[in-house]
Amino acid sequence: MKRVPVIVFGVGGVGQALLRQIVNGRLATAVRNQIQFDVVAAADRKSLAWEPEGLSDAQLLGIIEAKQMGLPANPESGRQTRISGERPSNRDILDFAPAAELENVIVVDVTAQAGMEPIIDRALQLGYGVVLANKKALAGPWETAQNYFNHPRIRHESTVGGGQPVIATLRTLLDTNDPIYRIEGQLSGTLGFICGQLDQGVSFSQAVAQAKTNGFTEPDPREDLGGQDVIRKVMILGRMAGWPLEAADIVVESLYPAAMAALSVAEFMRETAVLDEPMRQRVEAAAAEGDVLRYVAELEAGRGTVGLKAIPANSPLANLKYISFRSGRYHDEPLLIGGKGAGVEMTAAGVLGDMIDLVREGQF
Ligand SMILES: NC(=O)c1ccc[n+]([C@@H]2O[C@H](COP(=O)([O-])OP(=O)(O)OC[C@H]3O[C@@H](n4cnc5c(N)ncnc54)[C@H](OP(=O)(O)O)[C@@H]3O)[C@@H](O)[C@H]2O)c1
Repeated sequence: MKRVPVIVFGVGGVGQALLRQIVNGRLATAVRNQIQFDVVAAADRKSLAWEPEGLSDAQLLGIIEAKQMGLPANPESGRQTRISGERPSNRDILDFAPAAELENVIVVDVTAQAGMEPIIDRALQLGYGVVLANKKALAGPWETAQNYFNHPRIRHESTVGGGQPVIATLRTLLDTNDPIYRIEGQLSGTLGFICGQLDQGVSFSQAVAQAKTNGFTEPDPREDLGGQDVIRKVMILGRMAGWPLEAADIVVESLYPAAMAALSVAEFMRETAVLDEPMRQRVEAAAAEGDVLRYVAELEAGRGTVGLKAIPANSPLANLKYISFRSGRYHDEPLLIGGKGAGVEMTAAGVLGDMIDLVREGQF
């Protein structure tokens, strides 16, 4: 049995699902892969649970319970773990591991934070593996992000497709020398939901409000409506495919005008009603041609566009979160990966799969 220490940054929706899957899958992972993941650290913004021998399953479930009650991951700092007082910095948390003589550690970033690059760099410097669901470091300026692509100790399946095997598939195409010509996809579950509501005659403002109430959007829905998250995914795919894209290389259609960027979230939610009529007209114009509007990302020859596109209503792609690759071998008929929009469980499963992959591929 290989015991693998794990440091988890972020105990939100995905982080909690990951901890639960580690606990629930412990026996299966042991039998099938002869791996035991020992979560030595779980950190949210305000607290840290740390146990160099590995937090027990009861402690991990306690962390999930605390988070679900709106408490910090470690509400009993100093009793539940060996750390008391102020939460150490992420850099200090990382350095607890070599100090505790831990080896072959996997560092997981399931935060949504910008600025995690120094943590990733330090983890790589220590010889650790890194698994990212957080896209921000991979979609940062190419000068810093380029070190993270094709790195043997970095995995990031869940950054695109939310757990569907998109990154693994692209990696296989590239590893087998199949050049990528074109990538297209409906990459946002949130915008897919909103477009589906528009099909049914729901107004844009109501669709956005519903998506927010259902917890599908970021706390500020402009993060989704502006296409920023989709741009990050396009940059990750494009960069993997060999195009050193910067954000400026992607033409994006924001679903709200720039003038609404300075509003508070509450003001923005009230003002979205002004967008209802123009959007209704676009939906109707598409419907007159037998089409529906979908928020589609297209990438070819190092240039990308992200925005609303009319696609035939009877096309299977109209109702799928999908991604298609046209490559040397998949030239006439694209390679298609699609399925239901992902959620935290699928995203966490993608992270867990990456952790197993790192160990199985002998990266340690
Ligand atoms: N949700 C999905 O379906 C999905 C799909 C694909 C990819 N992702 C990506 O997965 C990541 C996590 O998503 P999520 O839905 O779990 O987000 P979330 O619910 O907002 O959770 C984020 C977690 O990160 C913690 N955090 C923030 N800053 C931190 C820091 N500096 N150090 C340590 N922890 C920090 C937060 O702490 P507090 O709890 O104290 O606030 C929270 O626990 C994001 O990057 C997201 O884009 C999510």
